[in-house]
Amino acid sequence: MSKKPWGGRFTESTNKSVEQFSSSIGFDKRLYSFDIEGSVAHCKMLGRQRIISDDEAFQLIEGLGKIKREIEHGEFEYHDSLEDIHMHIETRLLQLIGKTAHKLHTARSRNDQIALDTRMYLRHEIQQIIHLLHRLRQVLVDLAEAHMGLIMPGYTHLQRAQPVLFSHHLMAYYEMLTRDTDRFQDSLKRVDVMPLGSAALAGTTYPIDRHYTAEVLGFSRVSANSIDSVSDRDFIIEFLSSASICMAHFSRLSEELIMWSSSEFSFIEISDDFTTGSSIMPQKKNPDAAELVRGKTGRIYGNLISLLTIMKSLPLSYNRDMQEDKEPLFDTVDTLKACIEIYCKMLPRITVNQHAMARATTSGYLNATDMTDYLVNKGMAFREAHEVVGKAVQYALREKKELHQLNLDELKTFSSLIADDIYTFLDVEQIVKRRNSYGGTGVHQVKQAIIGAKTCLVEAMDPEKISKD
Ligand code: ARG
Repeated sequence: MSKKPWGGRFTESTNKSVEQFSSSIGFDKRLYSFDIEGSVAHCKMLGRQRIISDDEAFQLIEGLGKIKREIEHGEFEYHDSLEDIHMHIETRLLQLIGKTAHKLHTARSRNDQIALDTRMYLRHEIQQIIHLLHRLRQVLVDLAEAHMGLIMPGYTHLQRAQPVLFSHHLMAYYEMLTRDTDRFQDSLKRVDVMPLGSAALAGTTYPIDRHYTAEVLGFSRVSANSIDSVSDRDFIIEFLSSASICMAHFSRLSEELIMWSSSEFSFIEISDDFTTGSSIMPQKKNPDAAELVRGKTGRIYGNLISLLTIMKSLPLSYNRDMQEDKEPLFDTVDTLKACIEIYCKMLPRITVNQHAMARATTSGYLNATDMTDYLVNKGMAFREAHEVVGKAVQYALREKKELHQLNLDELKTFSSLIADDIYTFLDVEQIVKRRNSYGGTGVHQVKQAIIGAKTCLVEAMDPEKISKD
């Protein structure tokens, strides 16, 4: 029978197919460094509390260090029969230092151990993700700054609505990613809770010092209820949910880049190195990277739904079902990071077709709202002005002209209030410039938004602040 750390009460060895079925080592091995760091802190605490001797603590810590090096040098062997990363490390420790290894698991259980490892892993990864998001926000701000003054049609219902600055449109994505960053940052508060010492579910009879362990591991808080500590996966669900919202934003950006690079729009061109060709149609240049980000949004949502479903109706406290939290979590971390990284590289390399954008602002009656405003400024009631301009649009459509292409006599037939000064009101650049309300698309407002974003990013990326995080 294979030697399992929990083998004492068993007379028969585990069925091979069950071993394979229940093994998590294939994916939880990535937790090794956190598992070892947690164990080292645990040993220090056990030694300090005189639960084990200083010499035993020393041997355990040395052995754990050796295992870490073995894993990092690819010299560590993995077996399905040893289930998970915790049992692999403990079993190897026994081979390395002998019986003292059995003392490592005093006053803890794999239930609080896995909760600790996952929290440490996620704390680390969320910080990485926040950092990547800062970089991408910077890319967006740089792009917005580089294209300052460029006007494009703004859309509602995917119909041309009003002219806006391309920079303003880009800064909308900056806002979304800022909210994502805030959400991840805020969720760290709930990840930053130390569960070790809750043991299997009820706490322990040993005189442990959980606050000391938390201090060694850099946690701000210690979990308050041992049952909750081993059965809580809210912090993972919350992460998967924040990641889903973030991916929703990427899917929208992807969709726009895909549309804009189509010949129907031709607003942008994605660089050759971020597109692929077709094996049958020689003219094709496909925006695959953007499409894949859009597609991957589906699996990120799926991962959230998986974990919500796994946790639904689970009785307290730990249940083995919860082992199923890891693959969705790891997949979300990897996918989200890959998407942010690809966007950090792809976005600075898009070429903007200023001509096509400018051309698109001259048709589609984007200045109709401003003609209404013109009449309102001259004293007409808004509803009436709306009606008058509607009639003008109807006429222009029939004449196959834009509003600014109608001559003054034609325009005057719709209202006697109309005079020569209407043409400045209908000019696209003037239209944008006039939208100077706070947060609007006016050049001054967008410049202010860019200045604000840059200040915020300088602070966020301050190396001193990052090292404190
Ligand atoms: N591999 C397990 C998991 O990921 C670790 C905890 C196992 N605990 C247990 N009592 N079998 O959840």
